[in-house]
Amino acid sequence: MSPDAGLIEALRCFGAGELPRALTLAEQAAADHPEPLTQAAAAHLRRVVGQGSADVYASPEGFAAFIAAGSNLPLYQQTSADLAEALRRHRALPVLDLGTGDGRALLPALREVSARVLAVEPSAALANDLRTAVAKAGLAVEVVEATAQSLIGHTNWRSARFGLCVATFALQSLPRPDRAQVLGWLRDHCRSVALAEFNAPDLTAPISDGIARDIIARYRQGVAEYAADPEPTVSGFLMPVLFGYFAAGRERTNWEQPLAGWTADLRAAGFRRVRTRSLYPYWWAEAFWIEADAS
Ligand SMILES: C[S@@+](CC[C@H](N)C(=O)[O-])C[C@H]1O[C@@H](n2cnc3c(N)ncnc32)[C@H](O)[C@@H]1O
Repeated sequence: MSPDAGLIEALRCFGAGELPRALTLAEQAAADHPEPLTQAAAAHLRRVVGQGSADVYASPEGFAAFIAAGSNLPLYQQTSADLAEALRRHRALPVLDLGTGDGRALLPALREVSARVLAVEPSAALANDLRTAVAKAGLAVEVVEATAQSLIGHTNWRSARFGLCVATFALQSLPRPDRAQVLGWLRDHCRSVALAEFNAPDLTAPISDGIARDIIARYRQGVAEYAADPEPTVSGFLMPVLFGYFAAGRERTNWEQPLAGWTADLRAAGFRRVRTRSLYPYWWAEAFWIEADAS
């Protein structure tokens, strides 16, 4: 069996909840084709079988190591530059940043342009890191530990008005129905939105063999970027996200989509003048800056 065929079968079995079979197939792929990707997949399944799945952002180490290396460096440099430019145009009113993480995109932009920001981040660990960084830099950023869904449902923010709502690589964490509700709320509470998102493959279930092979080829390239220093990036972030694409239920961590899906979601929520431009040709998929106006 080719390494891709074995991995695809393992991913499909994982998605179907057949964990022991998924592990056997991944271990077979790793034994037949020893390479970083097959070995990482087998190690991931050994962990899941032993300890269960964990949310990829619950422990910050994997994501923090992932984001601080490889092509993420030029990707974030460009993202923060585009964010600074958007802040310059919209800073008259407060800015809302959904899924701020530890502020990797936001904080460099705020070093260029000062603005009042409400930063919403559900991971306690990342929200704490963000609070510490904001306090150290003396920035006008209020950090709220919450999901976007809970923010829009809370009476505190019912009459809030923002100039710009930013979400860099964060709305992909929301299931589609929740995303539609959040975008609808944003249309009524912000003048404009700015998203950074990837032009991802179509990940709608069931994922075809062709798309699965394409995803595996992209992840082989991604894992290779961390070859010199793979941990905790590979086990703590890349593998949970890769396997999450194939988990239809609660283990799915990410709902990315092609660029056309993002622009269609914005139009469906009532946004106008949807503009896109390329940010960076990242290994997973080309990253885009997407802006739209509420009226
Ligand atoms: C890929 S990270 C991007 C973080 C940051 N915006 C950046 O560009 O570095 C995705 C972020 O979305 C957050 N997130 C996950 N689910 C969310 C939700 N339901 N509402 C808001 N943020 C969410 C995660 O905790 C994580 O910080």
